[in-house]
Amino acid sequence: MTTTGHGRVLRLLADGERHSGEQIAAELGISRSAVAKAVRRAADDLGLVIEARRGQGYRLAEPLELLDAQRILAGLPSQSLALLTGLEVLESVDSTNSHLLRLAGQGVVGGRVCLAERQSAGRGRLGRAWVSPFGANLYLSLLWRSPLALSQLGGLSLAAGVAVARALEAVGAEGIALKWPNDLHWQRRKLAGLLLEASGESQGPSTLVLGVGINLRMPPEQAADIDQPWSDLSMLPRVDHLARNRLASALIQALFEALSMFEQAGFEAFLDDWSERDAYRGERVSLQIGTSRIQGRYLGIDAEGCLLLETDEGQRRFQSGEVSLRVLGWRDGAEKRT
Ligand code: BTN
Repeated sequence: MTTTGHGRVLRLLADGERHSGEQIAAELGISRSAVAKAVRRAADDLGLVIEARRGQGYRLAEPLELLDAQRILAGLPSQSLALLTGLEVLESVDSTNSHLLRLAGQGVVGGRVCLAERQSAGRGRLGRAWVSPFGANLYLSLLWRSPLALSQLGGLSLAAGVAVARALEAVGAEGIALKWPNDLHWQRRKLAGLLLEASGESQGPSTLVLGVGINLRMPPEQAADIDQPWSDLSMLPRVDHLARNRLASALIQALFEALSMFEQAGFEAFLDDWSERDAYRGERVSLQIGTSRIQGRYLGIDAEGCLLLETDEGQRRFQSGEVSLRVLGWRDGAEKRT
């Protein structure tokens, strides 16, 4: 990945052990003042907490497993490797989705994956920001060219939600739930989200960029910017939240499998798996569509991935598009954004 001064220093500090300035300088063949400068830059630019003690050296407050393309590739089965046309690990980018959309515009073929250690302008659904600090979470996008028409891609983002749940379960996570259309929750708090951006001809083919953000260890300072209840993998028992490369491999594998399955069989092939993890069926919810709001009881989804809502006027059906779902608090009558 990075060969910049602070990147190389970070690789040495990633183990969370204390390293003397002298030792770092000798290993990297740079001066001790260059080490001190690199540490300052890592702290200032990347928001990392690095303890510096006079005469004792430097230590990262939290150990860090930096992303490593070779390790991610080594964790992929041959079927995924056959579909993967390129894997990029960036130290910093505005948004991995925006990056792949730019490459798509330049004619890059599908099957390309991009991960970044941090995003300076991470994007969520409906124009929201996605909090993306350095080294703490996973930000991954996949560029895919599909023969399907845009109109046939309706349930794809839900199918991808199932794929993310499977990847999390493959690394030991339990209790992963889905919130329509494609949020992943743990104990009613958002753990991961998906942003699908598609363009194409009405009869196909289509170009898709599928972006996934998973919280692994959200630093408290950045968490203050998140405007809804959230969780991260460090809260889950039996999950090694530091094993970022392993999770990246599991995610790439699950996404490729889901895309192939979706193209063969459509969303119906995912309906049971989605419904099994459906977190809020039966609860009172509020749907926000543009400026209007509709309340009712959430009845689950249909075979096309549309939301079914029981309202005073009878049952209604909604496609994900521009709809935002809020689950209404059932104890105090307060509305909770989830
Ligand atoms: C959401 O729940 O609102 C969707 C969040 C999607 C975030 C991911 S992080 C990787 C990719 N790049 C982005 O800018 N967004 C997606």
